[in-house]
Parts: sequence; structure tokens; C-alpha cells
Amino acid sequence: MSGGPAGPVGVPPSVAWTGTAVRVVDQRALPGELVLRDLPDVDAVVDAIATLAVRGANVIGTTGAFGVVLGLRAGLPLDEVAERVAGTRPTAVNLRVAVQAVVDAVRSGRDPLEVALALVDADRDQCRRIGEAGRDELVDRHRLLTHCNTGRLATTGWGTALGIVHAKAEAGHPVRVLATETRPLRQGARLTAWELERSGVDVEVIVDAAAAGAILGGRVDAVVVGADRIAANGDTANKVGTLGLALAADRAGVPFYVAATLNAVDLAVPDASHVPVELRRAAEVLDRPGDVDVPVWNPAFDLTPGGLVTGIVTEVGVLRPPYTSTLADAVRASDRQ
Ligand code: MRU
Repeated sequence: MSGGPAGPVGVPPSVAWTGTAVRVVDQRALPGELVLRDLPDVDAVVDAIATLAVRGANVIGTTGAFGVVLGLRAGLPLDEVAERVAGTRPTAVNLRVAVQAVVDAVRSGRDPLEVALALVDADRDQCRRIGEAGRDELVDRHRLLTHCNTGRLATTGWGTALGIVHAKAEAGHPVRVLATETRPLRQGARLTAWELERSGVDVEVIVDAAAAGAILGGRVDAVVVGADRIAANGDTANKVGTLGLALAADRAGVPFYVAATLNAVDLAVPDASHVPVELRRAAEVLDRPGDVDVPVWNPAFDLTPGGLVTGIVTEVGVLRPPYTSTLADAVRASDRQ
């Protein structure tokens, strides 16, 4: 099997190639059960991403790349399979970037599987560099509040925002995480808490509604979140609830960082108003037996103005305002043109 070594702390790789299928951790079953699932064809890949068995911007990108490989092996036309996979979730641009990388490979006569495997390795390497840059940036800040799950499960490395936490822990620096529950699907309480507990990192869970009070009440040294898409001006789409954290951090004078690989940056999108925000089912919110049947607005993401972001921690270092120039320079200097 290829796709990277097991996580060092009992968290298996979130995605790996078996030779005939893509093996993923079924994140719906956590924390109760650690289920590995082999996805043998593009239908199974699309279903896994759509149902959030596989979730998190980076890992849906790499899983989607393998999905295109599987579709091509089944003889499906390239454009059809690429559009099908890329359209599974609309907000995280990583999915489109990864699918496009495979499409470009096929068009230039390269082996699509090699490209998908290279994406896995690149993601792991980029996450490590994000972790190290964030560790140095936040060397004096020990109590970090994070949202959703941005760690080993959400990437093919040790994570983006959580990569910073893992890097601090690896270096022996003090670190304590306040993890928001992340309603409605509880990625924080189910996944971040599970991953950090397994990694031996001090973690405490709060309900989302407690976050502003924690930040204004002096319990947090920095807020660190991931991103599903960063517009050219630094506006950031991330799990719903992120905007409230940024507003509270701004009010409290607490630094607010976005940690993301550069393939979350979409220079074609000038600002947040152009980012498509995924709307999900009412049943994710009114999810208890006997809940009333009324309309629900259930956006999976919200949009944080770049003006609230202290720094964007990437694999090429911490980018600072004005993001319109620092993001463009970083993307153009990277191998992603
Ligand atoms: O709906 P999800 O669970 O896929 O949303 C995930 C997030 O919002 C993460 O913060 C983001 O994808 C970054 S993961 C490295």
C-alpha cells in the first residue's frame, strides 16, 4: 500500500492507495469506531465525500484525485469524471485544484496515479512546513482555540491549524487546545478531541456558544483555524462559526490566524462574496427525535473578512496583510501557477 506511513500516534493515514482502491478513514464512525473503508470506484469516492465519510479540505482533494484515477481505470471519459468529482462539494477549492492536477497530467501524457500519489506526499510536506512556521510564530502563545477539525484526519499529513499544535507538542513546547464542538456535525468534539487525545495533547472541548466568552474572558492566547478557500484579498471561507471567532478575537485583541496550504488560495476569486457556500440538509440541525419540522438555514461555512486575519500560515511561511499582494506573490512563487 502506498500513500504514507501510519500516523505516529495511532491515527492511521486518512487516505492511502491500496493498488486497486483508495483506503480512507470513515470519519462518520469516529470517535466510537476506527473504520477503514476501501473505495473501489469513483461512485464510492463521490459518495464518501458527499456524506462526509471523508471531510476536510485537503483530504477531499487527495481522495478526489484518486477518484479521477479510478474513473479513468473504469473507462469513463476524463471531462465527465473530473467534473463529477470536482462538483461533489463546492466550497473547498482544494478539491478542484487536485482534480485539475490529475486532468493536466492526463492531457500531458503523464501517469495520473503518479500525480495523485505526489499530491499526497506534497500535502504531507506542506502540512509539516505549516506546523513549523506556526510553531515559531506562536512560540509564546500556549492556549490555542481551534474550530472544526484540521488535523491528521483532514489532511494527509499532521494537519494545518492542528499541524501547528502537533509541531508545538513535538518540540516539547507547552500547548493546550480549546476545541469548539462545531455544530451541527461536531467535527471538533468528535474528531479534534479524539485526535489530540490520542496524540497526548491537552485538549478541552467547549460548545460553540462558549467561544466568545472564552476569548473575551482571557482563556485564549491565539485562535488558529483552517480554510476551505482563501480569496485573493485574504477573505476566508471556513467552517461555519469561524467568523464569530474572528470577531471575538478582534474585540479581545487576541491574534486570529488562518493556517492553510497554498492550494486553498483562489486568486480567481477577488473577495468572499464570490465564494460558493455549501448549504446542507435541515436534518443535520434538527437531528433529535421529536424535533419540530420547520425550515432550517444550514450553511456549512462562513466568510471571514481578511481584515480580521492577523496572519495566514502557509508552507512558505506566515503571510501578512496586505493579502492582495502577499498571497499573489506566494502563489506565483510556488510551483502552483
Ligand atoms: O465540512 P468539513 O468538515 O469538510 O469542513 C472542514 C473545515 O471547515 C476545515 O476547517 C477546512 O476544511 C480545513 S481542513 C485542513
